Amino acid sequence: MQTAMSSKQAAGNKAATLVQDGMVLGLGTGSTVACFLSALALRVRAEGLTVKGVPSSEATAAQARELGLELTDLETDPHLDLAVDGADEVDPEFRLVKGGGGALLREKIVAQAAREVVIIVGEGKRVERLATSFLLPVEILPFGHTATRALVAEAGGCQPFLRTCEDGSPFLTDNGNYILDCKFPQGIERPEALHAALCQIPGVAEVGLFLDLCHVLIEGRSDGSALLVRRS
Ligand code: A5P
Repeated sequence: MQTAMSSKQAAGNKAATLVQDGMVLGLGTGSTVACFLSALALRVRAEGLTVKGVPSSEATAAQARELGLELTDLETDPHLDLAVDGADEVDPEFRLVKGGGGALLREKIVAQAAREVVIIVGEGKRVERLATSFLLPVEILPFGHTATRALVAEAGGCQPFLRTCEDGSPFLTDNGNYILDCKFPQGIERPEALHAALCQIPGVAEVGLFLDLCHVLIEGRSDGSALLVRRS
């Protein structure tokens, strides 16, 4: 556990060095982003940087406020200089599975608004094929969710499980929606086709496949180093 945290912190620290004075940032969600926010807050305090960020979740907003980081929204600042977010899986083409924290819909909106998207991961997130080490999250509307789940299973050729809380009630996203965690026994063979098929289903709010949204990947190592690769 200690090892995983330090590789995430290494990635977060490296991403914080990319931030420049005056930037408007997209702030992703998750434990690796939490490391980035801490590193960013240190720079803001030490160097007097003026930056503000659009949070992709209530959790990120709360942490950013605690750290004294300035927040904004996409209505005030529709164009972001840089978005920094985590991922659950990254394949060789920099395609991602996201949504382990349930924030995929706002994360995608934030990433789409950014000139550059930097994905930060600790060790163990690289896969040859998506959905082989993690279930694919799909955000769906509560209305008609059983019917939507059946359609997701059919269109995706997968086994969707409704995400629940410890008390057995459905997990609710910040948007008041549900999450289906979808199991693909052989992983996802054709991510673009699957994404298109799932997006056709009316009850689907968003799919946790981020296929063309990662410009830069930063992979932290447990020795504190971090590898930065730009997508060619
Ligand atoms: C949040 O919904 C997710 O997309 C996270 O970005 C993703 O799960 C990575 O989380 P960690 O940084 O905690 O591994």
